[in-house]
Amino acid sequence: MNQEKGFTLWFTGLSGAGKSTISKILEDELLKRGKKVEILDGDEVRENLSKGLGFSKEDRDINIKRIGYVAKLLARNGVAVITAAISPYRQVRDHIRNENKEFVEVYVNCSLYQCIQRDVKGLYKKALTGEIKQFTGVSDPYEEPLNPEVVVETHLETPQQSAAKIIEKLEQLNYL
Ligand SMILES: Nc1ncnc2c1ncn2[C@@H]1O[C@H](COP(=O)(O)OP(=O)(O)O)[C@@H](O)[C@H]1O
Ligand SMILES: [Mg+2]
Repeated sequence: MNQEKGFTLWFTGLSGAGKSTISKILEDELLKRGKKVEILDGDEVRENLSKGLGFSKEDRDINIKRIGYVAKLLARNGVAVITAAISPYRQVRDHIRNENKEFVEVYVNCSLYQCIQRDVKGLYKKALTGEIKQFTGVSDPYEEPLNPEVVVETHLETPQQSAAKIIEKLEQLNYL
């Protein structure tokens, strides 16, 4: 086991796709395996590190770069970092891939239809009526990753199956 090796597991996907759910399952699994773990969840980051930022492309990119920077500091000290933010723009994700050496991108894929059906936080309803503007997938862009290390299909898998796929990839990449 590679207990000392830090890395950044970077989730990207629509709201309600399953980033937070899978990140918590993985946290438990990684802790069991003796890793140090930190989750940087988009919602929490926006309450703290990025309080005051909005949802323009510029603000979203600043938010994502901050998450990437903190992830870099932690990962280089041996922490398994899981980031769970929509991170809709490809260019800034690729920028972080270049800055953070040990980087594993996970595309948390889920059909927009299924995300709307789930509507975990009731936000799609508000986005579809126009009450919320600049909502990713509805009224703001989402750019799929072109070469992610892992793709999970949460409209077809259970959260446990999705988490297991990611663990398998981390083993293959020699992080576990
Ligand atoms: N394979 C899966 N992976 C993750 N979540 C899933 C999966 N299948 C169904 N779900 C459900 O989808 C919802 C995802 O919500 P959440 O994790 O908050 O999304 P996000 O953090 O991406 O906005 C949860 O209610 C979860 O139980
Ligand atoms: Mg979430």
